[in-house]
Amino acid sequence: MLRVAIVGSGFMGKSHAEAYKALPGVELAGIINPNPKNAVPLARETGCGYFASLEDAVKEGPLDIVSVCTPTYLHEQYVIEAAQAGCHVLCEKPVTFTLESFDRMVKACQDNGVKLMVAQVARWWPEFIDIARRLNGGELGRIHMIYEKRLCQLPTWSTWHRDPAKSGGGLYDLNIHDIDFLVSVYGRPESVFATGHKGDGGAWMYVVTSLLWPNGVKATVETCIEMPGPWPFSIEFRGAGDRGTLHYNLQAGMNIKDGEQNSNYTWYPAGAQAPETLPVAQTDMFVSEITEFVDAVKNNGELPVPLAESRVVLEVVLATLRSLEEGGIQKV
Ligand SMILES: NC(=O)c1ccc[n+]([C@@H]2O[C@H](COP(=O)([O-])OP(=O)(O)OC[C@H]3O[C@@H](n4cnc5c(N)ncnc54)[C@H](O)[C@@H]3O)[C@@H](O)[C@H]2O)c1
Repeated sequence: MLRVAIVGSGFMGKSHAEAYKALPGVELAGIINPNPKNAVPLARETGCGYFASLEDAVKEGPLDIVSVCTPTYLHEQYVIEAAQAGCHVLCEKPVTFTLESFDRMVKACQDNGVKLMVAQVARWWPEFIDIARRLNGGELGRIHMIYEKRLCQLPTWSTWHRDPAKSGGGLYDLNIHDIDFLVSVYGRPESVFATGHKGDGGAWMYVVTSLLWPNGVKATVETCIEMPGPWPFSIEFRGAGDRGTLHYNLQAGMNIKDGEQNSNYTWYPAGAQAPETLPVAQTDMFVSEITEFVDAVKNNGELPVPLAESRVVLEVVLATLRSLEEGGIQKV
């Protein structure tokens, strides 16, 4: 039985807790948060202990895995503390803000012989699993252009997303899902060019990035975490190639978990008269992600999100930030 604790009990802490609870061979041992008001209800709901600190949780019994689900600026301190306590770590995205911080986290995990994975859950989004398979298999032929979009209102459940020092704004918080997806398929891009809009808090909230890969693939990623008005949570993928156009479009309510979700996933074959609707079996992406992480821990196997890729993703975000701040095309 693997004993797991979760640091942070907000939107993501709850998602991780529910996913671990669904897995055989895993015991959810505790929710950690210095603020009991925020964490005790989740601990009760999931039938596990409440602890004010990681130190207290470890005193109660050894932990195998810690999920770090705090606001981003607290990730490094908890990842290092968990590694030093001998725990494997699943850390929410964006993992951190700088390469120096990332390298300290990786070193702490290596020094203590534990695994670290960044929870890039969009890799397990059912339609994106299918999109990745088609791109990797060359089904679109030579790629002409890829477009990805992720637009939402500021999360209503927390107050720290506007602060560049706490969340990094839309550039880090939301954009990173699409950058991670593209890096998982095409590897390190050669260069980026970005324009955007800074929110009142000083963070880049709206960002449009053009990316170029050494193999000639070009992509544009549009991200906003602070859409004005009652804009619905919406995401899109469009890939055009010699053999046709692949399109996925999803619209939910105020946030991804609110309201009716409308989506369509369609293939427009080159030369055909009519598009084809593509059926995709729906699975819970958090359960899929956490299952694969737990399996890698149990079997001492390869992590499904390799740290080398997470470092490249951070390098892309930092090049995007340079392009936003200084202008021009920036090398990754
Ligand atoms: N994978 C995804 O799709 C996804 C979605 C949303 C958020 N996230 C990421 O997950 C992380 C958490 O985001 P969220 O939306 O759950 O935020 P949230 O504000 O809902 O939750 C944060 C939690 O951390 C707790 N916390 C604050 N200070 C703490 C401390 N010092 N020690 C322990 N706990 C503390 C808060 O009380 C709260 O319970 C962020 O890094 C965010 O970017 C990922």
